[in-house]
Amino acid sequence: MSGRKIEKVMDRRDFLQSAAAAGAGLVFSPMVIGQTVTSKKPDDINVALIGAGAQGWVLLNACLLIPGVRFKAVCDIWTKHNQKRASGLLRKYRHEHNTYADYREMLDKEKDLDAAIIATPDFWHAEHTVACLEAGLHVYCEKEMSNTLEGARRMVQAAKKTGKLLQIGHQRRSNSRYIFCYEKLIKQAKLLGQITAVNGQWNRAVNAGLGWPKGTDIDPETLKKSGFESMEQFRNWRWYKGLGGGPIVDLGSHQIDVYNWFLDARPVSVMASGRTNYYNKETHQWHDTVMAIYEYETSQGPVSAYYQTISANSSQGYFESFLGTEGTLVVSEPASRCAVFREWWVLEAAWAKWVNKGYIEQEEGLDQPEDKEVVGEIRVPSPQPPKYKILVTMDEKIHQPHLENFFDAIRGRVKLSCPAEIGYETAVTVLKVNEAAEKGQKLEFKPEEFRV
Ligand SMILES: NC(=O)c1ccc[n+]([C@@H]2O[C@H](COP(=O)([O-])OP(=O)(O)OC[C@H]3O[C@@H](n4cnc5c(N)ncnc54)[C@H](O)[C@@H]3O)[C@@H](O)[C@H]2O)c1
Repeated sequence: MSGRKIEKVMDRRDFLQSAAAAGAGLVFSPMVIGQTVTSKKPDDINVALIGAGAQGWVLLNACLLIPGVRFKAVCDIWTKHNQKRASGLLRKYRHEHNTYADYREMLDKEKDLDAAIIATPDFWHAEHTVACLEAGLHVYCEKEMSNTLEGARRMVQAAKKTGKLLQIGHQRRSNSRYIFCYEKLIKQAKLLGQITAVNGQWNRAVNAGLGWPKGTDIDPETLKKSGFESMEQFRNWRWYKGLGGGPIVDLGSHQIDVYNWFLDARPVSVMASGRTNYYNKETHQWHDTVMAIYEYETSQGPVSAYYQTISANSSQGYFESFLGTEGTLVVSEPASRCAVFREWWVLEAAWAKWVNKGYIEQEEGLDQPEDKEVVGEIRVPSPQPPKYKILVTMDEKIHQPHLENFFDAIRGRVKLSCPAEIGYETAVTVLKVNEAAEKGQKLEFKPEEFRV
């Protein structure tokens, strides 16, 4: 093997090891169906799941691939459906556990828990998280941290007071491809030059709304006690004021969190338009179409950042794009979307070092600019600038590294990738979009707003 090839392999391997140390996972050894979960070993962590819906199910399945995670309890008010389904899966994997509909009863009775995973609707996060932290548990709580800043603040305060860990579910923070883009491509290689703008979106096709199987209705009293007026509202809570925050909070929070992270900054202002262009306002109380513009003052200079979410057309799906003077980075959870593009005026040789190091690889067969010497004008580029693949893969299920990071932080091996303080900064950044849209004004952020 030539010296250059060794450097290439070592460089990426070193990165992958450091990403693992940052929480992207240790040894891969999935649980096997039928394997009995025996007595607790020192590294084992006893876990409760609160909220076993769509996302609880995804997290549960990811956890079953992580060694040393033992589910002891599942709590969900939808006993006839989601609770039953999660409990059935745990039985299949021989996790001896109890089921509950009331989290307080669970915390009273389960005295052997180390941690809770919370995937209930946003308006329950603060209450569930604070109760678990105060009961001495470490908590992994899904985004959006809370539907109110007051709730998010209580969560940060409870984590500080109890000294327990609180990870917020912005899973891109533990994704080795995102970490690579930030640490290697933006910070080390400086491939983008000066970032002056960001552009991102999450667009989705029209959707009939969520239903529920016959015979699985929750009794009206439990529904009401849990904050829902009807089964329809219970299933589609995201669209209701007081329960969720609409698509900008639901989807935007993931991506706007990446804006703050990659720019190493918090915004100084936001303006936004939020409208209901397609859905019925009775059942879709939050805006189905939101377009927001943030302004940042970063150490490199000013950055304008656009974000849109459309719920009646899925064009271009979802991605975040960082636009610099020398290149553009497009990043998303699906690997197929990710790439870096070199501005035409930057010489190919300038990026060769990073190709040789194995960070990126140029895609073949691109058109060259037809006319490089237009007098009095800048060179006219071909439709697509030179495109490079990003050579770091993320082969695990998308939430697994973030969960692994949480469990390894409990074991004292790593720091959390998204502690409560970061989740709070993102909540402050995102929740203001709805306020700006409501007021129809450009709103400013003061630095102290981001701290608890
Ligand atoms: N990180 C991600 O990529 C991602 C993806 C989807 C959802 N989420 C987040 O996960 C959370 C749940 O979303 P979802 O799509 O699974 O919603 P969902 O409606 O499918 O599931 C919520 C579950 O919580 C249960 N529940 C409601 N109130 C409860 C209470 N008081 N006590 C116990 N259980 C209760 C419901 O019965 C249901 O099973 C939300 O905060 C959402 O933003 C994150």
